[in-house]
Amino acid sequence: MRTDYDETPYPSLSYSQTHPDRLATIATLLGLNPAPVTACHVLELGSAAGGNLFPLAYALPGSRFVGIDISAAQVEEGKALLDRLGLRNVSLQQMNILDITPAFGQFDYIIAHGVYSWVPPEVREKVMQVCRDNLAPDGIAYVSYNSYPGWHMMRTIRDAMLYRTRAVSDPSERATQARAMLDFMAGAIPESNAFGAFLQSYMRFLQGELKGANARGNAFLLHDELEEVNDPVYFWRFARHAAEHGLQYVAEAEFADVFPKGFSDQVMQTLQGLSHDIIELEQYLDFLRSRMFRQTLLCHDNLNVRRTLGLDRLRGMFVASRVKPASENPSIETVSVEQFRAADGATLSTDHPVSKAALLHLAQVWPRAVPVGDLLAVARARVNAVPDRLDDDANDLLANLLKAYTYSSQLVELHTFQPPLAGEASERPIASAVARYEARQGAIVANLWHERAHLTPLNRQLVQLLDGTRNRSALLDSLAALAREEKIHLKVDGQPITDEARVRQLLEGELEQNLQWLARAGTLVG
Ligand SMILES: C[S@@+](CC[C@H](N)C(=O)[O-])C[C@H]1O[C@@H](n2cnc3c(N)ncnc32)[C@H](O)[C@@H]1O
Repeated sequence: MRTDYDETPYPSLSYSQTHPDRLATIATLLGLNPAPVTACHVLELGSAAGGNLFPLAYALPGSRFVGIDISAAQVEEGKALLDRLGLRNVSLQQMNILDITPAFGQFDYIIAHGVYSWVPPEVREKVMQVCRDNLAPDGIAYVSYNSYPGWHMMRTIRDAMLYRTRAVSDPSERATQARAMLDFMAGAIPESNAFGAFLQSYMRFLQGELKGANARGNAFLLHDELEEVNDPVYFWRFARHAAEHGLQYVAEAEFADVFPKGFSDQVMQTLQGLSHDIIELEQYLDFLRSRMFRQTLLCHDNLNVRRTLGLDRLRGMFVASRVKPASENPSIETVSVEQFRAADGATLSTDHPVSKAALLHLAQVWPRAVPVGDLLAVARARVNAVPDRLDDDANDLLANLLKAYTYSSQLVELHTFQPPLAGEASERPIASAVARYEARQGAIVANLWHERAHLTPLNRQLVQLLDGTRNRSALLDSLAALAREEKIHLKVDGQPITDEARVRQLLEGELEQNLQWLARAGTLVG
């Protein structure tokens, strides 16, 4: 059976929010006991060409991964890549979700990203059944879906694009016509109109890197917005569907989403008064936030999800952070308030010397994470903390870390494991084998935290050379050869540089800078 995913494959990329570590961290914070991610069994439904599973399998060699997808073309593409990567702990199978039985096995983590609202009702039903029958007793399932009420507005946009392209069958032409329709609407409807404002924000999203007007962007548009089946669902209906299968709501994979921000105390009180349980509260919040998309975690309904977060749950975890102090010379030892800022604009202010020292330490060692216990010890040593304050310091630090994590994961990341990351470029640097392969295909590669790193043309070439066989001088020779072959273009003040000696001199500076960047971007293996 051919599917439209055979004709236009879905761009197969990594999704950090689906990482078993993310699922395990959130579940652990909520009092559950998920399987350790370094020795777990993972199933992905609708895994396309394996772009999400392969970097996970590479970073977690002690765990086993199975991906299934109905599209033969995508699975074949993934299998060919798998042969080249030589990963033995992951397999892809061409299979219909409908054909999965309990005998298919038990999995500690089940991932279904971009499937639930894009498949017919019987497959949607089966996704829930699989989450019930094939999920280990302490397992966590991740299911993402389009949601109402946010999708009501989006429906109008989808319907306009579908109507405009109703007689067009060629995928690339469909994408072109759909974009032309959007441009027309965006130009015709003023932004002062509520729908016009929504349309503009959607246009900005489309123009973003992943939905740009290239083949990859068109594939996203055709499948995400224009796929024949696209049935968004209200959260309460989704939760009821899960409950009918003996599953319960745990949280959202973007954990900070579960903690409402920007509402007054009065609004929060009214919401609490209206809501008899977490499902109602989340549904009312979806109405207030006009939510369009959810990434929900589920577990079996016999487990006790503790909705009060306890600091004790952080003790065995790892912490990472790339926050920057707002002031140039933050005062660490004294009890003065310092502010730390994340890339998304979120800030954390604290006067606790140990917490301040801890955040500075984390920023220094990024992308590596630090076990909570070690972080406490390093930070206390840095501020010469007195022995009497050990328990207080531990509590204050953990409380600050938890507060930051629940506000924005860009402030502080919590993890249950440490991937095999190199903090710095070694003498013969090694980039992850998956990243080396991905760099051949395009500018986006998965780092060892399963985030996407966006490469410049130069570091795209460099990553491919980092297989551990080359030292700096061999790397320089290889880069110089690539420049001669015009695969790397060097410019100074906008002028191309071709003189061999000058090229080498420029590359020498670039090499160290790029290696450092790649290390900070979490692409190098320790
Ligand atoms: C929108 S794509 C998402 C792919 C991937 N999970 C991601 O997010 O990048 C949906 C995927 O589900 C697969 N799919 C759709 N119906 C399926 C079915 N009945 N059984 C197995 N796979 C299916 C498609 O082939 C496609 O690869």
